[in-house]
Amino acid sequence: MAGLLEQIDPLKAEAREAFAAATDLPALEQGKGVFLGPEGRFTALMKQLGSLAREERPAAGKAINAAKAELESALASRREELELKAAQPQNPSDFTAPGRRRALGHLHPLTRVTDDIVKAFRRIGFAVADGPEIEGEYHCFDALNTPKDHPARDSQDTFFVDTPSRPLLRTHTSSVQIRVMEKQPPPIRIIVPGRVYRRDNADATHNPTFHQVEGLYVDRGVTVGDLKGTVEFVFRELMGSDTKIRFRPHYFSYTEPSFEIDFSNALVRKLGKDWLEIAGCGMVHPQVFENVGYDPEVWTGWAFGFGIERIAMIRYGISDIRLFYENDVRFLRQF
Ligand code: DAH
Repeated sequence: MAGLLEQIDPLKAEAREAFAAATDLPALEQGKGVFLGPEGRFTALMKQLGSLAREERPAAGKAINAAKAELESALASRREELELKAAQPQNPSDFTAPGRRRALGHLHPLTRVTDDIVKAFRRIGFAVADGPEIEGEYHCFDALNTPKDHPARDSQDTFFVDTPSRPLLRTHTSSVQIRVMEKQPPPIRIIVPGRVYRRDNADATHNPTFHQVEGLYVDRGVTVGDLKGTVEFVFRELMGSDTKIRFRPHYFSYTEPSFEIDFSNALVRKLGKDWLEIAGCGMVHPQVFENVGYDPEVWTGWAFGFGIERIAMIRYGISDIRLFYENDVRFLRQF
């Protein structure tokens, strides 16, 4: 019989090959039994130690144990490979399987905040709608009951396109309320995140383009209580469960009554204030329903609008709105 010591290396190589050849976990466990199990071939080698001269035994025992330890770790690493393989989707071209996290880059803070707003509203049954950024005066103002001489319609405030039909860049997402109601009958439950334009000069809190979210809910018997409950739910989702809101009377041509919404929480107090104005809202004006062909005797509704940048600035403690548009990676990397 070849010396016991000479058998160790070939047996080890054989075991390694067997482990590598196992294509699933049961096959690997079987291989483990063959080489390392109580009835296995290394145990058999151990049993032969007694046939060696007494002074040769310790070295041989040590060599066998070292080989077994090596094989245990080869076994563990193969086991991990096979487990990973078992966890892979069976069909590699299943495009409906969940995607991987993106390896590079960050979502823009405005994208994050918009996603959170959409998520909060989806939880309570709102769908996302959109409309054109280049609008006509009818959808942006007239249908919203805004009088011809309203200052917002002035070319000092609104970007008009210099062609005979004088289209404009929408000054608010409220125009999409009209477009949605023109197209579909009630009930309506939508939000509209989108870009708007105003002739503001850029400073720390203004930019000629920014983003808003509009909300519109139309059904039978809708009340201010529904409006308040919804706004409170969404702002708590967005700004934390310690958030309080309050309504102050205000004026918008497309709602009656109209309110401004203030909110308060730890973030607001950190800015040294008790309340911050955050949104406009109200009960849809009967004239607006008339304009889209809904019967105001049957249908009731509420609407609101607020700025996404403002939410992001408060949430992340950003004091200059222009940082959102400069694409400076030192800023963006923080989110
Ligand atoms: N359009 C308003 C703005 O840009 C926000 C707003 C106020 C929207 C009241 C609404 C509303 O739908 O009911 O400031």
